[in-house]
Amino acid sequence: MLSHADNEILTRVGPGTPMGEVLRRYWTPALLGEEVPVPGGDPVRVRLLGEDLVAFRDTTGRVGLIQENCPHRGASLYFGRNEAGPDGTCGLRCPYHGWQFDADGACIDMPSEPATSTFKDRVRAKAYPVHESGGIVWTYMGPAETMTPFRDFGTETLPADKVVATKLHTTCNWIQTMEGNLDTAHISWLHAWSAAADIADDGTDKPGYPSNRMTWKYWMHDRAPRIEVENTWYGFRYGGLRTTPNGHTNVRITEYVAPYSTIIAAIPYNTRHLMVVPIDDHNCWRYNFDAQVQANPQGYGGAPLFDASPYDTAFTRRTGGITPRTHVAANDYLIDREVQRTETFTGVSDFVSQDMMVTESMGPIYDRSTEQLGQLDKAVIRMRRLLIGAAKALAADGTPPPALADEGRDFTTIRAADKTLEEGEDWRYLGTDDDPAVQEALQSLVAERHPVAGD
Ligand code: FES
Ligand SMILES: [Fe+2]
Repeated sequence: MLSHADNEILTRVGPGTPMGEVLRRYWTPALLGEEVPVPGGDPVRVRLLGEDLVAFRDTTGRVGLIQENCPHRGASLYFGRNEAGPDGTCGLRCPYHGWQFDADGACIDMPSEPATSTFKDRVRAKAYPVHESGGIVWTYMGPAETMTPFRDFGTETLPADKVVATKLHTTCNWIQTMEGNLDTAHISWLHAWSAAADIADDGTDKPGYPSNRMTWKYWMHDRAPRIEVENTWYGFRYGGLRTTPNGHTNVRITEYVAPYSTIIAAIPYNTRHLMVVPIDDHNCWRYNFDAQVQANPQGYGGAPLFDASPYDTAFTRRTGGITPRTHVAANDYLIDREVQRTETFTGVSDFVSQDMMVTESMGPIYDRSTEQLGQLDKAVIRMRRLLIGAAKALAADGTPPPALADEGRDFTTIRAADKTLEEGEDWRYLGTDDDPAVQEALQSLVAERHPVAGD
């Protein structure tokens, strides 16, 4: 339960709000690179943290992200012409009176004023710096003096043929989506289907790595996982511990990287980010991107996991672009009540749409002053405490929020593992550099990319 005041701090993201100021200290996904695919191509609208912007790739290939409304009299630059300007410059030209702005927001041409006028040198559009990495155009919207280096989750060295980035529009406050990502208990309910309990033991219900198929069985077998949370330098990680049918303990680890990223467990481990980016207070994007070459590309999100299920997999198999929505609030997420009675827990055929149904139906901003939290909500509580604490500290005395890029911080070491434990084995080393499965996977990835020369 949260006070109304803390709920406001947690959920509001516009300029000048405490959480909005926290989020503006991080490099943040603004759009997919493929939304502005070619130099001189069409501009796109970008709404981010409650601000209306327009993105364009200028005729030299550089991406600009500037205020949508023209600084002159406010026409939308979305309708502008992306073209070369005078003296080798280039940028977006407003369709109203022809003023032109480059990727830095400088007014480079003002043809509606006398040729002798120097007025254009004093006019600027608000522009944010951008950085392209991993198929995403990232931006920094905070004060220039507090800008920290780009946080490299591994995308900076990701081979071009391994870049995978998608985004999915969600019509609720970003915190509701984050809470779903930090709630391993719900997979035993929301995503359940009745036949999962009948999956035959394929011999992997023992200490070690289960098959993807068997993990579904575990989720159905133990529907009240124990949650153990550990604080880390980047936020926290938590284990969801379930008893397997053969009496072992399976752990699914979720990583939380402040402020808006989660990495969900996979076998043997996962490095794919699910990043929740607020569009405004009532909407967010779910970015899903590969930050490193996957240890097991067939793991979570891949075919075998979902092939074991009765769900549509078209969305989960996507390798790029804006994921279309077909199951929305207006059509009740295409819920099939007969299927719900007989086959699946929700009657909603698409896996991610099951999440949408529950998080969007809470309303655009859920009032947390009336909720009743249980043991299963430990990670949700930890995230809220961290975020509200960061917002209050930044507002009080300028304390920088956690997990910013800093000397010695390696964001590529954050990995979410899934394993069935040996008797007495502690889950906390899993997915770290000390995990033999990590060392083995990294060695084989290196060998794959840099084969030893020889005959
Ligand atoms: S409103 Fe854009 S140039 Fe006049
Ligand atoms: Fe879910």
